[in-house]
Amino acid sequence: LVAAMEEVEETYIMVKPDGVQRGLVGEIISRFEKKGFLLKGLKLFQCPKELAEEHYKDLKDKPFFPKLIDYITSGPVVCMAWEGVGVVASARKLIGATNPFQAEPGTIRGDLAVQTGRNVVHGSDSPENGKREIALWFKEGELCSWVPVQAPWLR
Ligand code: TYD
Repeated sequence: LVAAMEEVEETYIMVKPDGVQRGLVGEIISRFEKKGFLLKGLKLFQCPKELAEEHYKDLKDKPFFPKLIDYITSGPVVCMAWEGVGVVASARKLIGATNPFQAEPGTIRGDLAVQTGRNVVHGSDSPENGKREIALWFKEGELCSWVPVQAPWLR
């Protein structure tokens, strides 16, 4: 775990349709920016059904799958790629538990959400899925490699 935490990783973060509709986009982006992660990609996007199904393919046998797909495709989402040391696990901590009732205050879901089926944000659950999901949601040319001037403080 310690070794994994020292790795520079990439994660896919998405503001779900309820987060966009409720005007929480800036607040959610801000939490990852303030933490010190590096934004590599950002877009507002209306997700087609096929993409939602591919993204959540591991959950296709769950009873909530059809509702989940309806929810994710119900309006625009904000797609983000973030880079940083241990960013996958760290972002999951900032996001909080899947069920907002169990998410600690101070986390995004703990502060901003009420129901599991309306939990405002997605974050990849492993470095492998981080890579997979960024490749799924972004086209070539939509991601930027850049080094911020304050890099020595955070990297
Ligand atoms: P999951 O990958 O288990 O959680 P997380 O988003 O925290 O990685 O589930 C994906 C999404 O599916 C979850 O954010 C909300 C939805 N979901 C439900 O609607 N009902 C449920 O019982 C579960 C477990 C998830």
